[in-house]
Amino acid sequence: MDFVLSEKLWKEAQEIFPGGVNSPVRSFQSVGGFPFYVSRAKGSKITDVDGNDYTDYVCSWGALIHGHAHPAVVRAVGEALKDGTSYGANSPLEIKLARLIQSAMPSIEKIRFVNSGTEACMTAIRIARGVSGREKIMKFEGCYHGHSDSLLVKAGSGALTTAVPNSAGIPPCLSSLTLVLPWNDRQTLLEAFKRQGKETAAVILEPVLANCGLIPPEEGFLECLFKTAREYGTLVIFDEVITGFRLALGGAQEIFGIQPDLTVLGKIIGGGLPVGAVGGKKEIMDSLSPLGSVYQAGTLSGNPLAMAAGIAQLEQIKKAPPYSHLETLGSELESAIKDIQRKLPIPFQFNRRGSLFSFFFTAKNIRSATDVYSVDKKRFSCFFTSLLHSGIFLPPSPFETAFLSTAHSETDIDELVKFVYDILKKMP
Ligand SMILES: Cc1ncc(COP(=O)(O)O)c(C=O)c1O
Repeated sequence: MDFVLSEKLWKEAQEIFPGGVNSPVRSFQSVGGFPFYVSRAKGSKITDVDGNDYTDYVCSWGALIHGHAHPAVVRAVGEALKDGTSYGANSPLEIKLARLIQSAMPSIEKIRFVNSGTEACMTAIRIARGVSGREKIMKFEGCYHGHSDSLLVKAGSGALTTAVPNSAGIPPCLSSLTLVLPWNDRQTLLEAFKRQGKETAAVILEPVLANCGLIPPEEGFLECLFKTAREYGTLVIFDEVITGFRLALGGAQEIFGIQPDLTVLGKIIGGGLPVGAVGGKKEIMDSLSPLGSVYQAGTLSGNPLAMAAGIAQLEQIKKAPPYSHLETLGSELESAIKDIQRKLPIPFQFNRRGSLFSFFFTAKNIRSATDVYSVDKKRFSCFFTSLLHSGIFLPPSPFETAFLSTAHSETDIDELVKFVYDILKKMP
């Protein structure tokens, strides 16, 4: 493999973009080397400008549940494009996508579209503060809810990857309103509610933590959180930007049988175009402007191209539910990786839930963000780079989750397993 053109573009990009990128994790800073530049992508494959092909387990960070350039999505965007790119006025596509989401997630009685997961989380917090009159919020260490000020406190994903889980530029008086709790720790949760529950507007969480690698909730944890929040009148916000339409049609809330007060969505509902949404109980959502006093707006909100892509992707999901296929692929991968764990002495963990999976280079069982900090980053870098040079693209960080799509085949999985074995066998 050579990377001549990518290297050239990387040099130029560093002159014009801070750190060479428009989103930090794309810089490959935590895995070393320089990133490749994409020329095109189709199905499970991505091709760089030097003509190298990779099997892609990033899938636009989970947005592409059907893989790249799915014909139904491409067609829908092409059709919508003929009618214009943005109106600054309402289009029927917004109602159609909203209805598709609502029918899958009964907790969503009303919804508002925005342009990113960040915006949707930020709006959810503002709604919670607005309706409750309370200022504090609770989040969990390692959960990432985008880069708005209140939520970029001990955050996962790129924030953790670049070692700035607490960003500069956030006034302490604001971050002090965000209480950070350890994931999967019921005792601390109960104590925090006892001390500050009555002042807390909302608790926001990724119901399956996927921004610190993948760390599913332990049995009973979400139920305990929901029950306790109810006792204190604290709203529960499920950030399903990753899990929505990925773990099940009705997201994590369907799987765990919990109806959150507010749900945040993004990624899959936009079919790979920029989108976000916040939805929930009617009486809470009606606090939004123009009905209520919580202000929120957006020039491109409900953009017709994003709506069309989202409709096509969700209709495809409804027509041919992908979840049992994804579970089959995921469980085949898991059992092959467990087999490798038994054969080789190198200590690593493999967490999986449905089509989400992570490798952690540590002997420690991974239950929380603190456990993740113990991973061997050097080993991960070596693993990542060797896989990349074998034509496999995993998320370029030891703190991220990888994604399967319906475009991945059993051959893709067999190939991944083979390379993982070969690389780990030689790893010092
Ligand atoms: C769970 C979760 N919430 C929110 C966000 C922020 O979404 P966006 O990057 O669209 O702003 C992300 C992004 O990865 C996410 O994974």
